[in-house]
Amino acid sequence: MKIFLKIFLILLLIGFIALQFYQPEKNMGDQLTEDGLIWSTDISPELGEKFMISCYDCHSDYTRYPFYGYISPVSWLLNKHITEGKESLNFSRWALYSDKEKISLLIGICDETANYSMPLPVYTKLQKEARLSLDDIFEICDWTEGEIDKIIGLE
Ligand code: HEC
Repeated sequence: MKIFLKIFLILLLIGFIALQFYQPEKNMGDQLTEDGLIWSTDISPELGEKFMISCYDCHSDYTRYPFYGYISPVSWLLNKHITEGKESLNFSRWALYSDKEKISLLIGICDETANYSMPLPVYTKLQKEARLSLDDIFEICDWTEGEIDKIIGLE
């Protein structure tokens, strides 16, 4: 019986090692771009940095990968968050959104942070510096409101 257990564990190990050769493409484009939120708007550097720390890993063309981000199958789970996150909102391409898209994203940004859906709770468990305080959330919603006013010409 013992020999079967050994063979099973060895096969499992071989499978795990083989899996390491199978990796998703890494999200490592330019962190700051002309069309990005930071350079294409007059957002304050402090708020811009907050977004970079709390959101950019899943919502920009550049991810700061933790060491386990290189280990399959975790790398595939991260890749899923990044792909889906960027599909809904990519701060690196902010200037390319239409006014309508921007307004709906700005409403979403205030909404999702205010009800603690974003940054994803599974992420903030490990990335403690990405957690937002109540003050941060007020600041974010003030900013989104101001941006919407600018777009619709109230300011
Ligand atoms: C760990 C990855 C991750 C981080 C960090 C993260 N998000 Fe997301 N975000 C996602 C994913 C995945 C989706 C798409 C699926 C969903 O809506 O849950 C998403 C969707 C969104 C959406 C669109 C929701 C909709 O209704 O379409 C907004 C707005 C958003 N995120 C804002 C933010 C903001 C603002 C931050 C930072 C304060 C942030 N996210 C941080 C992964 C992340």
